[in-house]
Amino acid sequence: MTDRAVPASELYTDEFVADPYPTFARLRTDAPVCPVSSLRFDQYLITRLDDAKAALTDPRLSKDLYGPGQHYLRIFGPNSEGLNKNMLNSDPPEHTRLRRVVSQAFAPRRIEALRPRVAEIVDDLLDKIVPQGQADLMRDFAIPLPMMVISDLLGIPATDHDRVLDWTQVIRTSGSSRRPPEQERAAVQEAQLRLNHYLADLVQAKRGNPADDMISALIEACDHDGTLAESELVTTTFLLLFAGHQTTADFLGNATVALLTNPDQLELLRAKPDLLPQAIEELLRFDGPLPVASPRIATEDIEYQGVRIPRGSIVGVVINSANHDPEHFADPDRLDLCRDRGPHIGFGHGVHYCLGVSLARMEAQIGIGALLRRLPDPRLAVPVEQLRRLPAASPFRGLLELPVQF
Ligand code: HEM
Repeated sequence: MTDRAVPASELYTDEFVADPYPTFARLRTDAPVCPVSSLRFDQYLITRLDDAKAALTDPRLSKDLYGPGQHYLRIFGPNSEGLNKNMLNSDPPEHTRLRRVVSQAFAPRRIEALRPRVAEIVDDLLDKIVPQGQADLMRDFAIPLPMMVISDLLGIPATDHDRVLDWTQVIRTSGSSRRPPEQERAAVQEAQLRLNHYLADLVQAKRGNPADDMISALIEACDHDGTLAESELVTTTFLLLFAGHQTTADFLGNATVALLTNPDQLELLRAKPDLLPQAIEELLRFDGPLPVASPRIATEDIEYQGVRIPRGSIVGVVINSANHDPEHFADPDRLDLCRDRGPHIGFGHGVHYCLGVSLARMEAQIGIGALLRRLPDPRLAVPVEQLRRLPAASPFRGLLELPVQF
């Protein structure tokens, strides 16, 4: 075991971006609680499943980045205005209040009612792709599908989808262009600002003209019940828009690659589509889109695996490592669609457990099911090692492009 701080540059190499699982295996054995130092901020990575679950429910680990210490400044830098207070970066009781306002809308029964609309969006997207014989499945399918679903749910008009998509993609792909870092940061800030302004204007427009959508329901909660402050209307909408499509898009891409590179499993799923719900859980365990849970802050000195984590430290729970912990998953680096769901934490754990879990599962089941049904003999158009991925600094694990032929 070591408690030497590993420089981030040593950990996050190009090989790591292509395949982080050998590194996670090494950390689980040699440094299950690993201090990592970087220019922006130091953090402790927790890589075993039992510790990960304990940390995600540990009241000494706070999500309140706005409390004493203003930790968001340390994590996201001095120009982090785009990051606003929302349920994901707050603790109970504030978190409970912010989550309660929207939790009804994400109840499984409500989400089930969206099934025909999701299927329609999937079919429309595939109608355009299928005759081409080739596609970039990120651009043409995985990104627009969840974006259109969450936009519909929130009440973002279809005529605005393209520009909202442009802004969210600038934020999502941050760090992957050849531009100098200052230009890249400026572009992300501008996209965040424009998106914030757009959502603030949309909220005002809906206030005078409410509809049967989630933004109108949030306005109702603000104006009539007082359960939501004015500023929280936009920050909640921003979070739902982002959380609602980013992870799902990256998951659809990762899951497709996993199936295309494991043809026996792809054929199995084609032959037994009833396996889909179980297969989606395994695909999420196998290569999830959120490798590390959002940052937690130690509010006092704590100890995990004999490693002291001083008060004020940032703690990263490595979801994708915990989901490959051999203590809990036999032969963890093998994709086995018949595997029992097991204790994976791909949707998180504890009070911040994914609010959109039912929606994410439904989109993935319909989306992956339709890809298998409608794309004859799909295959990667480039070797898997050459797929362009989001950079190591991204909080997400996903692809910039997914060229396929069929
Ligand atoms: C939280 C994963 C799709 C909304 C989370 C967390 C994870 C996660 C791991 C916990 C983060 C943490 O504790 O730091 C995923 C995955 C998805 C997905 C893998 C797709 C495959 C969605 C969708 C929505 C959504 C479709 C819809 C709006 C949220 C929200 C939170 C959250 C609002 C914060 C909950 C809270 O703080 O109480 N998600 N998510 N997610 N997710 Fe998802």
